[in-house]
Amino acid sequence: MDDSKDWLDKTKKKVMERFSGEEGSHDWHHIDRVRRMALQLCTVEGGDPFIVEMAALLHDMEDWKLDSTDNRNFSVREWLVAEGMEKEQAEKILTITGEVSFRGMGVITPCSSLESMIVQDADRLDAIGAIGIARAFAYGGREGRPLHVPGEKPVFHSSFGEYRNHKGSTVQHFHEKLLALKDRCNTGEGRRIAAQRHEFMVLFLDHFFRDWYMGVPPEDLQD
Ligand code: NI
Repeated sequence: MDDSKDWLDKTKKKVMERFSGEEGSHDWHHIDRVRRMALQLCTVEGGDPFIVEMAALLHDMEDWKLDSTDNRNFSVREWLVAEGMEKEQAEKILTITGEVSFRGMGVITPCSSLESMIVQDADRLDAIGAIGIARAFAYGGREGRPLHVPGEKPVFHSSFGEYRNHKGSTVQHFHEKLLALKDRCNTGEGRRIAAQRHEFMVLFLDHFFRDWYMGVPPEDLQD
């Protein structure tokens, strides 16, 4: 078996194990969609498909949103080293996984390679459109958030700490993060797909407010 297939197989197995029991917003299926999207972006944009796929598989392994106790102390670095990955390759992957996460509207998360841009785009694309809507409400439910609070205004977070600690409604989260993601995509193909998914979210919110306010949305919620 060639080496990269071997790596991908054992990484997949490890990630599936770790994400078993997670709810729908951050489960194995999220990882798998990001992996497939990243590979699709890779065929259009270029980049090393092995590095892209490995980083996509590992991108949420140390995520601050995962809270199952046995998931807390996992180190991707230690695992790659223990499994025998050569240092240079491991560093490439770790740099990408470190760069993927969205940490607030005012917090810049730059990418240092094409592979990193691709994985970041794939992760962001899974946060928008129909899947993004489903994931946002699943996550909101898990955190005990209301769907929407009339009169609530979006908050611009200028630090990661602020973003992490803020507890608004799920619809507010659309304004604080999801609607901004199409302009935060790095690659041309990422932006193209993001534009379509964005359009669907705007339509969803339009219906949401129309249904909630029975046709009369309050002034401050109209763009
Ligand atoms: Ni993710």
